[in-house]
Amino acid sequence: MTVKFLFYSILELLLWNCFSPTEPHSLWYILSATTGISDFPEFLASAVVDGVVVAYCDNSLKDTKPKTHWMSKLFEEDPQHVQWLNNKCLLNRLDFKATIITLKQRFNQSEGVHIFQRTNGCFWDDETGEFDGFNEYGYDGDDLIRFDLKTLTWISPRHQTVINKHNWDSDGSSLFWKYALTEDCIHFLKLYLNYGKSSLQTTVHPSVSLLQKTPSSVVTCHATGFYPERATVFWRKDGQELYEGVEKGEILPNNDGTFQMSVDLNISSVTAEDWRRYDCIFLFAGLKDIITTRLDRTMIRTNQEPHSLWYILSATTGISDFPEFLASAVVDGVVVAYCDNSLKDTKPKTHWMSKLFEEDPQHVQWLNNKCLLNRLDFKATIITLKQRFNQSEGK
Ligand SMILES: *[C@@H]1O[C@H](CO)[C@@H](O)[C@H](O)[C@H]1NC(C)=O
Ligand SMILES: *[C@@H]1O[C@H](CO)[C@@H](O)[C@H](O)[C@H]1NC(C)=O
Ligand SMILES: *[C@@H]1O[C@H](CO)[C@@H](O)[C@H](O)[C@H]1NC(C)=O
Repeated sequence: MTVKFLFYSILELLLWNCFSPTEPHSLWYILSATTGISDFPEFLASAVVDGVVVAYCDNSLKDTKPKTHWMSKLFEEDPQHVQWLNNKCLLNRLDFKATIITLKQRFNQSEGVHIFQRTNGCFWDDETGEFDGFNEYGYDGDDLIRFDLKTLTWISPRHQTVINKHNWDSDGSSLFWKYALTEDCIHFLKLYLNYGKSSLQTTVHPSVSLLQKTPSSVVTCHATGFYPERATVFWRKDGQELYEGVEKGEILPNNDGTFQMSVDLNISSVTAEDWRRYDCIFLFAGLKDIITTRLDRTMIRTNQEPHSLWYILSATTGISDFPEFLASAVVDGVVVAYCDNSLKDTKPKTHWMSKLFEEDPQHVQWLNNKCLLNRLDFKATIITLKQRFNQSEGK
């Protein structure tokens, strides 16, 4: 999953630098098949409009996913188009899987990491009406073969794909791609631009909530589900934006094309009677309506885990320099006391536990007894287990 995330971050960065508002509009399809990379989809395809990923699919998904707010709307209103995308995704996935096997053979590779990629798409200038299209294949980062829309022929810089050039020049592939790049692609680009444009006038308001892990941690104001991205969240005190003790998060995309953002407020020096002077504001850029959330104990959601006390005990054999017996007490994930076979007594591991040890010798006695009894028990048990598992030595 993290590799996939990285892939998209890099893709988006790349696209961000490639497009400027004065360029003609564009629709790109980027498809890739990989082998030999674990934790990464074997097949992955994205549709990109004016440099923004608007839909994608991969071999782990049953259906194509919309990646912008307006694309989600199109998916709801035009199931036939979703079906078209799903079909293309499935067919290409099968085709790419077969192709990468063929390529490995043709390049005499039996293993290793390999990437086969196709980038195709079209450009359309909405002022002049001019358009253009392209279709290129690459393997392991090098050009493999590409389609020339002007001559309707294939250009292969690699001898391994000369055979494809000869086949595709004569088998009707050129006409297929001419149609795909100049009819289908331009048609869908206009459809997408229409949905995108109408969505520019839409705003979707977020739900805003206050979150806090423990009573002493920062209060997080979390706004999620808003569109468009041009928005901000901040904390105010007495109606004035607050900068001190505030940690602003970045605007992050949700999976449905909407966005989220969080801002933390350090309340360690805020007295109880001052709480009511604070509020969290959500605001769309250029719009007047705001969402105000008062800092109020009763409004705060805690996703706090229940408190816990764990005992963790282990016996080992065959490991030098490691205690044969070891036991810890763990409160809310923090080791507070421990003992092992080299120690006469249980040791406190936090400051407040030392205090308890001083003030409550009876509890220390209880811990020491438990430690000794378990140590003898565990030592006997590990001998029994080794016999039962027919092990005479080892760790
Ligand atoms: C293919 O690879 C094998 C093993 O690496 C090698 O023995 C063989 O000569 C290679 N063949 C070609 C045509 O490169
Ligand atoms: C909150 O502010 C206090 C006092 O300024 C500081 O000691 C503490 O580390 C801050 N907490 C966080 C989570 O930033
Ligand atoms: C136990 O281990 C010994 C030596 O490794 C082997 O000869 C014997 O067959 C094993 N017995 C069982 C019940 O696995």
